[in-house]
Amino acid sequence: MKPNIKDKLLDIGCGSASSLLAMAAQMPECQFTGIDFSGPDIASAQEMAREAGLTNVELQQADLMNWDPRGAKFDFIIAYGFFSWVPDEVKDRLLQLIAGCLAPQGIACVSYMTYPGCKQPEALRDLLKLHTDSLQDPLEKVAAAHRTLDFLDRAWQGLPKFAHSRYLREEVRRIRQKEPHFLVLDDLGVERDPCYLLQFTNWAAEHGLTYLGESEFHTMLLENLPLESGKELAAMGLDRLQTEQLIDYITNRAFRCSLLVGAQATLPALLDAQALRGLCIRSSLKPVFKTKLGVTEGRFLTAQGSKFTLRSVPLVAFIRELALQPEACLPFQEVLFKAQTTVGQVFDEVEQAQLAEDLLTLYAKRHIEISALAFIPPTSLPEYPRLTRLNLAMCRQRGIIVDAHHETIQPSPAQIDFCLQLDGSLSLSEIGQKFPSQQPFLASLNRLGCLMPALQNARVFGGRYGVEIKG
Ligand SMILES: C[S@@+](CC[C@H](N)C(=O)[O-])C[C@H]1O[C@@H](n2cnc3c(N)ncnc32)[C@H](O)[C@@H]1O
Repeated sequence: MKPNIKDKLLDIGCGSASSLLAMAAQMPECQFTGIDFSGPDIASAQEMAREAGLTNVELQQADLMNWDPRGAKFDFIIAYGFFSWVPDEVKDRLLQLIAGCLAPQGIACVSYMTYPGCKQPEALRDLLKLHTDSLQDPLEKVAAAHRTLDFLDRAWQGLPKFAHSRYLREEVRRIRQKEPHFLVLDDLGVERDPCYLLQFTNWAAEHGLTYLGESEFHTMLLENLPLESGKELAAMGLDRLQTEQLIDYITNRAFRCSLLVGAQATLPALLDAQALRGLCIRSSLKPVFKTKLGVTEGRFLTAQGSKFTLRSVPLVAFIRELALQPEACLPFQEVLFKAQTTVGQVFDEVEQAQLAEDLLTLYAKRHIEISALAFIPPTSLPEYPRLTRLNLAMCRQRGIIVDAHHETIQPSPAQIDFCLQLDGSLSLSEIGQKFPSQQPFLASLNRLGCLMPALQNARVFGGRYGVEIKG
């Protein structure tokens, strides 16, 4: 089946464009544009696109301040890792450009560092910069930062009764674990400029952009707060934005990836669960051993190891079907059909509508993922395994692989050597003899859609926005 959408996507400050290229490879009918003023990043991305044979992606080295979109309109605009790292005039230009280039029903996704979560780490960061700014060599900077962090950790260890020392020791541990490259980049280098949600949305509103919601849907919901504080917050009668700002305080949020729409967009009032019936679903829930077929109650285990109960025959059957293929992202209708066949029962319209509502509840609790893109993992290994062209290029140039869900896999050095042999020249039995220990890795690459024919199993489904929204 061919993709039924032909959207245009713009990635502003795309850097080396790994995710843009992965999307372009998976959705050949959509058009992708990436801009960044880093010459080496754009050159590397262009080289990768050439090597992967991608013809639906355009990568431009340009400064956003004077980039001319030449009247182009985009259905999606992404600015990830950009807003909080550029001066105010560039932020203004970004929002102005989004307002001018979004298609009428388009959506922009802008990530930024946010308060209150960034307040205390900012103090720690200030100290680290004070102790490292005078050093030129990045490795010396990292060593000096580690010395400071270790000193603080020892000092706070001696003050276990102080609440701040517990919190900050955790922060020290988080920074201490970073790869040197990211430590320099995130904590010792470029200035950051976090803001509150309300500051961000006001700024966007000055450019005629409206906050649609957060890309991590569950973080917007009162239901995911402790029961009493959720009720208390609901009773305060605050508007949606004020409520979310308070949720940021409760959760001490430090990072957001917010969705914006333009003035012409029809604004949503309600999420329509029934739209899920035209979309695809992935689940990492596992049935607990004793769950039987066709039962009204089923116990499931989350990826984090907690157990919970689902109560309804269609829902239990549906989630059990998904659990059979955890790497897959399957169309609702196909899973429904299999679930009905397995339990030997046809679910009527009322049951199907309730199933969609129940699935939306599971989505709100992050137990399932929803996507417009289906992925059906191949059932067997190809006779001559070959990485996708993009993955061969990614592996060769950057030592990474991107799976069918656009998640990055970081193989070990031995796995990279192995991957570079996966160019279709070796048969399965030759691979078995030469690389016996890599068999499980090969099987997982296949299941995750990293090998050549696998991406043909990816299809675009249903509505443009993942979940269609009722006006
Ligand atoms: C932190 S990186 C994020 C890269 C990528 N979006 C990602 O998430 O991996 C920010 C990028 O913005 C680019 N950038 C900053 N200011 C820019 C400007 N005025 N015009 C174009 N690109 C810019 C930088 O070159 C850098 O590649």
